[in-house]
Amino acid sequence: MNVVSTLEQVREQIAAWRRQTLTIGFVPTMGYLHEGHLSLVDEAARQADRIVVSIYVNPTQFDPTEDLDVYPRDFDRDERLCRERGVALLFYPSNETMYTPDHSTWVQEESLTGALCGQSRPTHFRGVTTVVAKLFHIVQPDVAVFGRKDAQQALVIQRMVRDLNIPVSICTVPIVREPDGLAMSSRNRYLTGDQRQRALCLNRSLREAVGLHAQGERSAKCLVNIIREAVRQAEGNLDYVELVSRETLHPLEMVNEPALLAVAAHFGPTRLLDNADLG
Ligand code: PAJ
Repeated sequence: MNVVSTLEQVREQIAAWRRQTLTIGFVPTMGYLHEGHLSLVDEAARQADRIVVSIYVNPTQFDPTEDLDVYPRDFDRDERLCRERGVALLFYPSNETMYTPDHSTWVQEESLTGALCGQSRPTHFRGVTTVVAKLFHIVQPDVAVFGRKDAQQALVIQRMVRDLNIPVSICTVPIVREPDGLAMSSRNRYLTGDQRQRALCLNRSLREAVGLHAQGERSAKCLVNIIREAVRQAEGNLDYVELVSRETLHPLEMVNEPALLAVAAHFGPTRLLDNADLG
């Protein structure tokens, strides 16, 4: 595995592979890797000849009150996991490499980012789309893989790629969960034992709602209330729970098209996301 931190090193490696007509699969991450990230790597390996992973905790997607400084990091472990999983190029840039001090150009998606997480994190997706567009320009992959744990993020990236004609195909993979059902997340390590137990209400109530939907329940209010009530009982602090169109992220009253039931809630200081597809 080639471990590099400059743009020139990435470009040199990519150019060498291109000369051999090898295809490139890319998995952007913020590190502190877990099996969720690694399932993206596996998917990239199914789709392309060489896998590139980036590890970069992107400051522009954190707002000033968020956990940028304490975001978990363990490069040595990440590097080992990537090596074991067959990653060919690990890109680990510094802030200086990614952003010049007078950086002043942003990529902003203006429809999907107003919904769900965009309401409480108004500058978050602008940071995500900007850094992902930059990474796409640096790596120039054929395919890039994103997780449906961050369903809105994946949709926003798909929209950006479509709208800006970026020649990469976006592929998404299902949520990978801990054995107890908690969606894997680098932020899970912040949870105390008690908070973690209480956070299980997210997946549990989502599954309950999926079950009711399968039995014919179509009312968004009813399905959303199952999650709302479960989070209340578990003494979580609900950011949002919404049933939205999987295409536009507009709220639905009835599940009469492919829908996403999405929740964000705090357990202690830690904000967790989870979601389920309906229909
Ligand atoms: P990060 O949170 O590190 O996640 C990197 C990728 O892993 C994302 O596509 C995310 O959806 C996916 N992922 C995380 N947990 C997952 C799980 N339990 N199951 C399936 N996939 C999972 O998302 C980011 O980083 C950043 O916003 C980034 C795209 C790298 C831009 O900075």
